[in-house]
Amino acid sequence: MAERFNVGGVLLPRPFVIRRLGHFGINVDNSDRSLDFYTRLLGFRMSDPIDFGARIPVDERASYGSTSGYFLRHGTDHHSLVLFPRTVVDRLNPHYRTCPENTTNQITWQVGSLAEIVNGHDWFKNTDRKVLRAGRDVPGSNWHFYPPDPDGHVNELYYGIEQIGWSGRSKPLQVHQLRHERPPTLPFRSEYAEVNEAIANGTSLDSGNRGTDPAPETFDVDGVLLGRPFKVVKVGPIRLFVEDIDKAIAFYRDDLGLDVTQEVNYLGHRCVFFRANTEHHSLGVYPIALRAQLDLRQDTTLLSFGLQVATYTQLKAALQFLRSNGVQIKTLPSALFPGMDYQALAIDPDGHAIQLFYRMDQVGWDGQVRPDQAPIGPPDVWPDAVEPESDVYKGEVLLGPFN
Ligand SMILES: [Fe+2]
Repeated sequence: MAERFNVGGVLLPRPFVIRRLGHFGINVDNSDRSLDFYTRLLGFRMSDPIDFGARIPVDERASYGSTSGYFLRHGTDHHSLVLFPRTVVDRLNPHYRTCPENTTNQITWQVGSLAEIVNGHDWFKNTDRKVLRAGRDVPGSNWHFYPPDPDGHVNELYYGIEQIGWSGRSKPLQVHQLRHERPPTLPFRSEYAEVNEAIANGTSLDSGNRGTDPAPETFDVDGVLLGRPFKVVKVGPIRLFVEDIDKAIAFYRDDLGLDVTQEVNYLGHRCVFFRANTEHHSLGVYPIALRAQLDLRQDTTLLSFGLQVATYTQLKAALQFLRSNGVQIKTLPSALFPGMDYQALAIDPDGHAIQLFYRMDQVGWDGQVRPDQAPIGPPDVWPDAVEPESDVYKGEVLLGPFN
């Protein structure tokens, strides 16, 4: 019988369980331009900047333009979206860049405890699975380790990301000495004890960064005035083009432990969809040969990444708002997106496709998926209101107010 691991008293095939997609990152050509796009038009707040300039030799620095990366959030997680400067990341981490078309920065999964991170890291190392690095980083203060997929997309497993509350302030810089370059010896002190120490050392808890929103609050978003007519409530799903579907399954299903929800044969291309929890999928993998047949950026292995908005009405309003602000909106055949109905793609300044949607099928204990539905037309033929699916507004929910 295969080895099993005691995860909180439950015997499982791995010493960790991924609970959800926590955040996602892209490497971009101009991080300041992307920051403007994702904050002003999509409503993300900048939690903290990170300047990589000091890590680049002085005589090279001028050739890089902005060397800043940005951590953005839509809820209380310190970051749910990361924008890093592509040429700078490539210069500093050439060993990460096994595929020149990889513009994903990180695909980041939450596990259930610090023990799952430490034991999961040991399991990866002891079974000769590749890990790029491990420890704890700031900003964000989460413990983590980074396994790459067979195509070089960097995945991250983490526990304990910093939460940003009503004040909107991130942890003060003085607390950033929490960085570790390896997993801890367990047990480790709680975050509460760390904050107590910071207070005892005279750190002001109000001195962290507070992201701002310059847009006037002119839109009624289900009862809350906001600077745009919708609220992003969740990130994902991520869609990747890969060289070898079987190798991708071996990594995402067997190494990370994601469940395969469904496979789709699209014009002879085998596409596979994985879930971490009850969502139909948080990850889809597609053969790279399919890319040339789709009206998408042709030099990235990122097909799209999802941003879920809170309601159907908000989805319609979001597409109209983005279009009126000069953002290109596209649709692709719905057969590429099983488990979804109303969705469309908005193209960001780098040509990355952002998939906007408001609901996804939820999958229960028996793993059964909903039978195929009739295809949905483009947004301009969508009705003003729709009939409810049994699982509408179910699954992971936003905690806290629309901000
Ligand atoms: Fe991360």
